[in-house]
Amino acid sequence: NIKGVIFDLDGVIADTAVVHHAAWKKLAAEIDIPFDDAIGERLKGVDRRASLEILLEQASRSYSEAEKEALATRKNDYYRQQIQQFGPQQLLPGARAAVESVRGAGLKTALASASRNASLLLEKLGIADLFDYVVDANHISRAKPDPEIFLAAARGLGLAPSECLGVEDAAAGIASIHSAGMTAVGIGQPQALAGADLLLPDVAAFDISRFIKT
Ligand code: BG6
Ligand code: MG
Repeated sequence: NIKGVIFDLDGVIADTAVVHHAAWKKLAAEIDIPFDDAIGERLKGVDRRASLEILLEQASRSYSEAEKEALATRKNDYYRQQIQQFGPQQLLPGARAAVESVRGAGLKTALASASRNASLLLEKLGIADLFDYVVDANHISRAKPDPEIFLAAARGLGLAPSECLGVEDAAAGIASIHSAGMTAVGIGQPQALAGADLLLPDVAAFDISRFIKT
């Protein structure tokens, strides 16, 4: 039986998938690297440096370590400029209600975010107190699709992986949830999230009652 729900942040709770996408697209244009929606989809849920490596697959020259650091920082600066202005209006529709419904049903809630900006975002959105436990990229060493982040979240909740549900908008996240031995709820398009155990168009459609045995 499910006793806890572990939510991804970007693209599930916060309307930031588009902001990350736009920041990478801007960087790509500046260094003359082709960028399309398929590449944008591959970047979802992937940490900052791994995202840059995906982007640089299309590059016509190689980049030094120092150059890569500078590019990753530049992308993050573009992203941070946007989220400075964020407030509760950047919660995705139904996100707060989805998390509250889980708590209301007596289950635990956690957040598993690949982002180093997660705590800033939680503060801006005003939802930090909705989660019993938060794991972000600063707490783990292996990024999604590795299961480490979801396993750390389950451990923080004091639950076995089989008692947890993971909610994700990215293919890398669904893979991470499954490797952790959890049930995966995908939020978004079937093309990108074919592996999910349950696919929903958006977080507003999330209904915890279907996972609770009565
Ligand atoms: C994930 C996003 O949540 O965090 C990715 O889906 C992003 O797009 C990753 O690259 C890392 O985020 P940040 O804020 O540390 O660059
Ligand atoms: Mg996401």
